[in-house]
Amino acid sequence: MSKKVSIIGAGMTGSTTAHWLAQREIADLVLVDVVEGMPEGKALDLLEAMPVIGKDVSITGAGGAGFEATAGSDIIVITAGLPRKPGMSRDDLLAANSEIVGKVAEETIKLSPDAIYIVLTNPLDVMTYLTWKKTGLPPNRVIGQAGILDSARMRAFVALALNVSVENINCYVLGGHGDSMVPLTRHSNVAGVPLHKTMSAELLDGIVERTRSGGGEIVKLLKQGSAYYAPSAAIAQMVEAILKDKQLIVPAAVYMQGEYGLKDIYFGAPAQLGANGVEKIIEYDLNDEEMAALKQSAEGVAANTAKLGL
Ligand code: APR
Repeated sequence: MSKKVSIIGAGMTGSTTAHWLAQREIADLVLVDVVEGMPEGKALDLLEAMPVIGKDVSITGAGGAGFEATAGSDIIVITAGLPRKPGMSRDDLLAANSEIVGKVAEETIKLSPDAIYIVLTNPLDVMTYLTWKKTGLPPNRVIGQAGILDSARMRAFVALALNVSVENINCYVLGGHGDSMVPLTRHSNVAGVPLHKTMSAELLDGIVERTRSGGGEIVKLLKQGSAYYAPSAAIAQMVEAILKDKQLIVPAAVYMQGEYGLKDIYFGAPAQLGANGVEKIIEYDLNDEEMAALKQSAEGVAANTAKLGL
C-alpha cells in the first residue's frame, strides 16, 4: 500500500487504533513501543487476522523504541505515555508524559519530515502543543484528538436516553479536553431538532455532566488504565479523513491563531480535515455564555501549556 501510518505507543489505544485502521485497509501500519517484543507480537497477531477479514495490509512492530521503522510515514499517531489511574486528572500526567512525547516527536520528525501528527497522549491539548514545538511543523500538520471522542460520548448518551440511532445525533463538544470542556447544547441536534426540544432540561444537564466526566467514569470502572475503544476509533476517523482528503469537519485540538479570540494554544474547535491536515477552523456563532465557558476552558489549557516552559 502506498500510505504509511506509524503508531507510537502500542498499548491499549495504540494497538486498538491499528485494529480499526487495518479494517479500513487505507495504509500500511507500524506499531512502535519502548517495550521490546510487545509491538512485534501485537502486529503479528493483527497481521494474522487479515486473511480472515480479507484485508491486504502490512502490519509490523518495532520494540525498544525502534523509530527507524517509522521512516517515511504519512501520518504519525502518538499514544505513548502513561494513562490515568482512578482519582487522577489528565493534568496530573503532564510531567511524565511531556518527557515521553517530546522525545517521540524529536525522534520521529527526523525520519518523516513530511508527516502529519495526530496526538492522543494526555493532557491532550498540552501534548499536542509540545509535539508542534518539537517537530517544528506548521500548525496545520499537528492535530490533537479529543473532540470527536467527547462529542461521541455525548452522542452515545443522547442515543441511550432517546432511543434514536446514533447516526441521527449530532453533538459538538469544544474546548480543552478536561473537566472544563464545553458541550454546545444549542448547536447539537437530533435529526435537525435542537437537543433541548427533545428532552427535559434536567435530562440534558445530566448528559452534559456525564459527557464532561465520561473519561473518568471509565477510569473508575476499569481501575487500571483508561478508555481506548472510543479514543482509538476517533483517531482512525481522523486518519481516514486526512488520507482520503475528505474535508471532514470534526472537533479536534487545533492551533488557535485568533479564532474564538484565542491565540497560541492548542484547543478544541471544529476543524476541516483533509490532505494538508487542518484545512480550516470553523467559527461557530456563540452567545456570551458559550464564549465565557470557552474562555474559562482556554485559561486552564494556557496555564498548563505554560508549564512546559517552551
Ligand atoms: N516510546 C514509545 N512508547 C512508549 C514510550 C516511549 N518513550 N513510553 C511509554 N510508551 C508506551 C508504553 O510502553 C505503553 O505500551 O506507551 C504505551 C501506552 O499504552 P497504555 O499504557 O496502554 O496507555 P493507553 O491507554 O494506550 O493510553 C495512552 O493516551 O488516552 C491517553 O491518557 C492516555 O496518555 C495516555 C495515552
